[in-house]
Amino acid sequence: MTPVHVPVLAGELIDLTAPTKGETAVDCTFGAGGHARLVADRLGSTGTLVCIDRDPAAESRFDELAAEVACETRFLRMDYAEGLAVLAEEGLAADIVYLDLGISSMQVDARERGFSYSYDAPLDMRMDPSQELDARAVLNGWDERQLAQIFRRYGEDPNARRIAREIVRRRGRAPLETTGELVEAIEAALPAAVRRRFGGGHPAKRVFQAVRIAVNGELDSLDRALPLAWDLLGPGGRLAAISFHSLEDRRVKRFLVERARGCVCPPDFPVCVCGHEPEAEPVFRRSVVPTPGEVAANPRSKSARLRAARKLREEH
Ligand SMILES: C[S@@+](CC[C@H](N)C(=O)[O-])C[C@H]1O[C@@H](n2cnc3c(N)ncnc32)[C@H](O)[C@@H]1O
Repeated sequence: MTPVHVPVLAGELIDLTAPTKGETAVDCTFGAGGHARLVADRLGSTGTLVCIDRDPAAESRFDELAAEVACETRFLRMDYAEGLAVLAEEGLAADIVYLDLGISSMQVDARERGFSYSYDAPLDMRMDPSQELDARAVLNGWDERQLAQIFRRYGEDPNARRIAREIVRRRGRAPLETTGELVEAIEAALPAAVRRRFGGGHPAKRVFQAVRIAVNGELDSLDRALPLAWDLLGPGGRLAAISFHSLEDRRVKRFLVERARGCVCPPDFPVCVCGHEPEAEPVFRRSVVPTPGEVAANPRSKSARLRAARKLREEH
């Protein structure tokens, strides 16, 4: 397989999830299959790897991988939260479930899909091209308040309101059609003095992230998927997630911290009366970030954070 996406924190993911011969693993975000290949090699001919992705381009990559690895493989082309629900319905017991969130280089580099502010393309940004909602519909259809809200929440953009106002002003003349027009609107909303004050790379970066998250309902999928992934695991099972911005990482961290908590009595109780026991132990106490060497070799890894936990017991 020709590499079109360099897997991020790959060695670290393998160390923390420790795939072993004969185990069953679920890759929720197959992408170009970089992590999946490493995991499959460790599962051996008696193992099983279930891969999920909602992008048809990932499915073509999966067909290549399936022909080359020894373990049993299977692909579900759907949202990973739906995929995990399907696997639960089927009664699958997994040893490992992992997610590598966001988009792949394969998607960013496919210019016509509109994920990148560096290329002029139609406003699309759908991971699943059969989905109805696309970036054009969001940017031309949502009202100014909704746009400002997603730019602020999902892009953490300090200029959210200015940018939303400029987009609405421009689309009053003619709908926004291309990523180039979106970049122009963002640049027009941010005079040089404002840009200098807030700094932080390309002025369109945060808005593009925000629109992509909104189009693909990314945070909602993650919120639905984490408990489903956890429930697929038996005792000793490992859950790992690689996130690329604080909105994702906060969710993963909160989920794992809650599972690792023992006593849940109110803090002013002198003794524990709840008898609550932790369900998880962290495989590594903090998050794992890429080495400077990895960031130099693959700048897209810069903001990555990996968290993982091991299941101690079944939930009752
Ligand atoms: C960062 S890439 C994964 C790269 C992969 N680990 C590799 O080594 O090639 C993320 C992938 O997850 C997919 N994805 C993101 N959110 C998804 C969701 N909610 N359901 C299904 N697939 C999703 C994207 O389509 C993309 O292919």
